[in-house]
Amino acid sequence: MTISPDLPQVLVIDDEMGPRESLRMLLKPNYQVHTASSVEAGIKILQEKHPDAVISDIRMPGTNGIDGLRRIREIDPHVAVIMLTGFGALETAQEALRLGANDYISKPFDAREMRDVISRNVERTRVQRTGEHAAAEIRELNNRLLKELAQKERLASLGQASAEFVHDLGNPLTIVWGYVQLLAKKLEQQEKAPGTESPTSAKELNIIEQNVRLCRELLTMWQSYGSVEAAPHKPISVSAIVREVVKGIGSIATGNGVELIVDISEDPCTLMGEGVQVTRAIQNVIINAVQASAEKKGKVTISCTRGDFYVDVRVEDTGTGMTAAQIPKIFEPYFTTKQHKSGTGLGLYITKKVVEDHNGSIKVDSTPEVGTTFTIRLPLASK
Ligand SMILES: Nc1ncnc2c1ncn2[C@@H]1O[C@H](COP(=O)(O)OP(=O)(O)OP(=O)(O)O)[C@@H](O)[C@H]1O
Ligand SMILES: [Mg+2]
Repeated sequence: MTISPDLPQVLVIDDEMGPRESLRMLLKPNYQVHTASSVEAGIKILQEKHPDAVISDIRMPGTNGIDGLRRIREIDPHVAVIMLTGFGALETAQEALRLGANDYISKPFDAREMRDVISRNVERTRVQRTGEHAAAEIRELNNRLLKELAQKERLASLGQASAEFVHDLGNPLTIVWGYVQLLAKKLEQQEKAPGTESPTSAKELNIIEQNVRLCRELLTMWQSYGSVEAAPHKPISVSAIVREVVKGIGSIATGNGVELIVDISEDPCTLMGEGVQVTRAIQNVIINAVQASAEKKGKVTISCTRGDFYVDVRVEDTGTGMTAAQIPKIFEPYFTTKQHKSGTGLGLYITKKVVEDHNGSIKVDSTPEVGTTFTIRLPLASK
């Protein structure tokens, strides 16, 4: 007779041949039966065959059933173990249950009771194992998802970082581009009218050089992305930064017919921070103001005012203004109304991040068709 591989397996451990063989005969029609005459032999079969139930005598020479039970439990916590006890050995049976046996049957056993107990326990093992298997699969799936999520987050933050980097490079490059055009125009005029006195280009070259240096600094900073946030804060002068930014943007504003009105505190307005970051934050706001005012040939008023504990950088424009619905969105990454002018929508998002990294705040007031005022407030270094 061939045994179906799907038949549940039962392991019988008993040193006496009589009960061992009678159990084999009794269970054979419904189970694959393995028999062992000692705990040692039984353990070996357990490890090889992973039976669905173990029936073990308690009293055996050598390793007894109770010690055997302990070892079975160490190997397989889910297999059902049924102990065979001598008549009236209730205490031993209780001890076995306490140690993790699932059931016990007194010898001599009743065939029907034995079949019932085994069928019940085989079922219990299968349910337990299926549950354990499903739980292991869920754990495995969960681990995989967590790993994927971590990778996606890393990729997303890298993508975000590259987009911010592209945006950061955009500001100084726009300035360089503006000045190169200006110089080209000067050269052209000179070529048209040779012999006229050459207008000085030192100022323009200086601004170009400064902005190329900023590009290089940004590049170095972004190359070590990840440590950007952790860059140590140094004393920086906000007044000097605003002055530099205004100098860089000045001729672009004039080129676009926008008037710049500037009022910068004589005080250095020193705070602990990162110069490159604060520069980009202020630059973004001023460039936005110039862009918003270009069409109307409006005015941009920039002030840097020192308070007792903070410095306010205020950028007021008489440009397009914004609707109430638009204002809450402007600090979101990628929100832009300048798609046609290749705006990335990252400018104000970056500004807000930098301001918050320096424990400051940014406020906006705007009226459509009238204009907009941004106020960046940064805490000063304590003296
Ligand atoms: N001063 C302003 N006046 C009117 N609208 C503004 C002003 N500043 C910002 N906005 C609005 O907020 C949006 C987001 O500004 P943000 O600087 O984040 O991106 P952007 O200027 O569109 O793109 P990028 O900064 O990459 O050039 C702008 O597209 C514009 O609609
Ligand atoms: Mg912008």
